[in-house]
Amino acid sequence: MMTVAASSAAGVADPRLLGRDVRRIAFDAETLRARVRELGAEITAAYPDGDLHVLGLLKGSFVFLADLVREIRRPLYVDFVVAASYGDAMVSSGHVRLVYAPEASLEGKHILLVEDIVDSGRTLQELKSLLSARRPRSLEICALLHKRIAAQPAVPVRFVGFDAPNEFLVGYGLDHAENFRHLPYVASLKQSEAVTDR
Ligand code: PRP
Repeated sequence: MMTVAASSAAGVADPRLLGRDVRRIAFDAETLRARVRELGAEITAAYPDGDLHVLGLLKGSFVFLADLVREIRRPLYVDFVVAASYGDAMVSSGHVRLVYAPEASLEGKHILLVEDIVDSGRTLQELKSLLSARRPRSLEICALLHKRIAAQPAVPVRFVGFDAPNEFLVGYGLDHAENFRHLPYVASLKQSEAVTDR
């Protein structure tokens, strides 16, 4: 695969990269903008009535969520959920608990859970079951990126921005060691730069 420096997309060396080299730009800002606009239209059409609560899973979804809600042309409420994993910090146990969730009742309301990326799908699987207990009218997921690597995709994701390559992706909310969330594009870090797993 051809290596594309971030500088070639931006026209100048990108000072946001801390001198790191990216393998390639996976999704540039214009591509993201166009697809987010389409997703907003799909979501608008999918919810002709009822209260819609758009819940962003922090932290990764914050950039995507901010752009997405501005493309949804109907009334909605925005809130966030914060999840933490149980067990061994080095190995994801697949069990999550909610550290923050909306206090307002979600019963009888449409919930749209917004995620930046689906990797193993474990986070969403757990969150879906936790939020289902709040007896919503519907509970759907919108993910900007989906790696589709789970052997059995246990959780259906109704709205997907892009199928994502199985690479270490940063930017547009996605981080590496909390860096790079503010990149306006999604880039793939070189293996030598991505020393730890997400
Ligand atoms: C990342 C990402 C998803 C999750 C996907 O979150 O934002 O929430 O991992 O992984 P999974 O499909 O294998 O469960 P992370 O724990 O890095 O937290 P962050 O959102 O604060 O970056």
